[in-house]
Amino acid sequence: MASVPASAGDTGLRAAARGTGTKIGTAVDMSALAADAPYAAAVAREFDTVTPENVMKWAEVEPTQGTYNWGPADDLIKFARKNGQAVRGHTLVWHSQNPSWLTEANFTPAQLKALLRKHIFDEVGHFKGRIWAWDVANEVFNEDGTLRDTIWLRALGPSYIADAFRWAHQADPSALLFLNDYNVDWLGPKSDAYYALIKSLRAQGVPVHGFGLQGHLGIQYGLPGNVLENVRRFDALGVKTAFTEVDIRMIMPADSTKVQAQAEGFGLLLRACLLVRNCVSYTVWGFTDKYSWVPGVFPTEGSATPFDEQLQPKPAYDTLRETFLLAK
Ligand code: XIL
Repeated sequence: MASVPASAGDTGLRAAARGTGTKIGTAVDMSALAADAPYAAAVAREFDTVTPENVMKWAEVEPTQGTYNWGPADDLIKFARKNGQAVRGHTLVWHSQNPSWLTEANFTPAQLKALLRKHIFDEVGHFKGRIWAWDVANEVFNEDGTLRDTIWLRALGPSYIADAFRWAHQADPSALLFLNDYNVDWLGPKSDAYYALIKSLRAQGVPVHGFGLQGHLGIQYGLPGNVLENVRRFDALGVKTAFTEVDIRMIMPADSTKVQAQAEGFGLLLRACLLVRNCVSYTVWGFTDKYSWVPGVFPTEGSATPFDEQLQPKPAYDTLRETFLLAK
């Protein structure tokens, strides 16, 4: 392990991550990317991978049944190609952000199965060869480790998950296929459920290649001290892991103690990633407080990302950068 070189001060996260085996990524807000040049410059400078924050979700790509809107996602792919970045596709089967034509009609189970199949073949097919990793199934478990009650589980039963992976793999055999969820960063019934599911799917030959830990944390709940132990057991199963949506919120107003606790949290997750063999990427869910989803969803909370609203780096940024540099 090398010490931090003195010349490292003038390089960003991308440069810091190079050679560690873990890519650094961010979710991208397509309106900000189009309208805010400093934002776009930072996406290109700081990150190896990009994830569309919304524009690949079913409600966005097929707002009217049979009429696709690939434009915004295609723009992200173009941006990524220009900047030598890999794309994480997000997401194919979910209970949320589905089009109303899908959720409000009374489709039969057979119709829903055909619609899901078509959705996956059409979307994965459209982006074939241009997506590094897909979050195939998102948030399928409840906190207690039982399967979440969704239109998919109700109509199709638990086999919808294996089907989704098989279809995605047929549509693009070169993409890495992930399960993805929140509150699975620590050991507990929910992450146990994923461990059991992945083990069983792999035993059946279902093409599941990775487990995504979203990493939406709040410092007021404490940090997940056993995250390394948790990631390690998935690593030992032979699947890749990734932190896919890291942000660490706090009750507002922020102060220097909270911001320091947040930096420790970003570092804790990144260290867990760097200490296992196959943690392939670490993605933040937006890199600047200027566009973070947090205040809109958790009204008293905010300041969840590594850059402030002026796009200035916070202590979390320095911790990420130094943690990468120490891993080389
Ligand atoms: C969020 C986006 O950030 C918001 O802009 C949108 O309004 C709702 O969805 N888990 C996920 C992400 O997998 O897709 C969610 O993204 C955040 C929680």
